[in-house]
Amino acid sequence: MNVIETFEKWDLDLLIDYDLKFHHRNTRRYGEKILQRLTALAQQHTELNEVVELFRNSIQDLDMHCMKEENVLYPYIQELFNASETQQPVEAFHCGSIQFPINAMMAAHNDETGRHNLIGRLTNNYTAPEGTQDGEYQKVLDDLRDFRDYLHEHVAVENEIIFPRALALEAANVASC
Ligand SMILES: [Fe+2]
Ligand SMILES: [Fe+2]
Repeated sequence: MNVIETFEKWDLDLLIDYDLKFHHRNTRRYGEKILQRLTALAQQHTELNEVVELFRNSIQDLDMHCMKEENVLYPYIQELFNASETQQPVEAFHCGSIQFPINAMMAAHNDETGRHNLIGRLTNNYTAPEGTQDGEYQKVLDDLRDFRDYLHEHVAVENEIIFPRALALEAANVASC
């Protein structure tokens, strides 16, 4: 069974918890550490300068992206979930639809995925140059690849499960303004 099929069995509030407490927390926790190691490594291996720049921008943009989900979108999706569980009415999102912020989040997911694809190409698919004596080089690239893999799962859980379910709840429970 693939992991997305497992997540399909989870309730929406559990998926939101997972997203916040696993993906958002670890994006920040490991992103900063990887950036520090990558920056130190690039001082000896200047071919990594562009990768450092891309990764620095990635974790800065991801931090803002996660903040928007934490402060605006997910509190409302949680409200939608609670309302549907208790069969209570719920007010429209700022008198609009969550389709708009969701579109913006999905566009950001695309940009971020593209940025990490570029990092993959620039690092020869996360492979240290042949003959490199510096063992840290491959370790940092391995951690960068893991970061990319977790990002893919983060994006898939949101794009394929959380957002479609939230839109369905909105359509079923919110009267338009
Ligand atoms: Fe997220
Ligand atoms: Fe997101």
